[in-house]
Amino acid sequence: MKKHTENIHPIFDRLLQRGAKEALLKQRSVALWMTGLSGSGKSTIGQYLEAKLHEEGFLTQMLDGDNIRSGLNNNLSFTVEDRQENIRRIAEVSKLFIDCGIVTINSFISPTKVIRQYAREIIGEDNFYEIYINTPLEICEARDVKGLYAKVRKGEIKNFTGIDSPYEAPEHPALEVKTEHQTIEQSVEEIYQFILPLIRV
Ligand code: ADX
Repeated sequence: MKKHTENIHPIFDRLLQRGAKEALLKQRSVALWMTGLSGSGKSTIGQYLEAKLHEEGFLTQMLDGDNIRSGLNNNLSFTVEDRQENIRRIAEVSKLFIDCGIVTINSFISPTKVIRQYAREIIGEDNFYEIYINTPLEICEARDVKGLYAKVRKGEIKNFTGIDSPYEAPEHPALEVKTEHQTIEQSVEEIYQFILPLIRV
């Protein structure tokens, strides 16, 4: 993609440093990047996690496929190119929150290794924690919370992740949560215990 940055003068070096903001908030900011199939539970787990972190006094921002795609990214489809642009914008937004000292919980299918690597590069290796929400396709389809799998099977949705569009599971995620035999609370607790030492000062 062509970059139009020649006449742009970023003022980042004149902005208040991230460390000062983290100190104000008494936390360290990181990006939790939850990847998994549609219906795997990413957003539900993210919402519960956000509530728990809030209770414990941490400031967070949740970014999720359905809310970002209904606003900022409402001009994007589910082609490979648009999914990449979706993730690029989200990663840039996530980075702004991190620079503000805020913990971001990102919940996006982000189906390929290349796409997640792209997000990792934008957000920065040191800030990026990939969490694989591993729920088998059969379970996602049986739950079908949004009724999308039924539509896919009727041929009403094309390029659906896991059906006629690929999902590449992470090989070395920072954390893998196998939701199949767990309650939501157990999955949330696993992530909470993982993240706590990273954000606590
Ligand atoms: S991503 O692939 O670009 O990362 P994202 O997480 O933003 O996807 O959006 C996924 C959500 O969009 C799904 O949970 C589902 O509700 C909805 N959706 C609509 N069409 C599709 C599709 N073809 N493939 C996957 N998800 C879809």
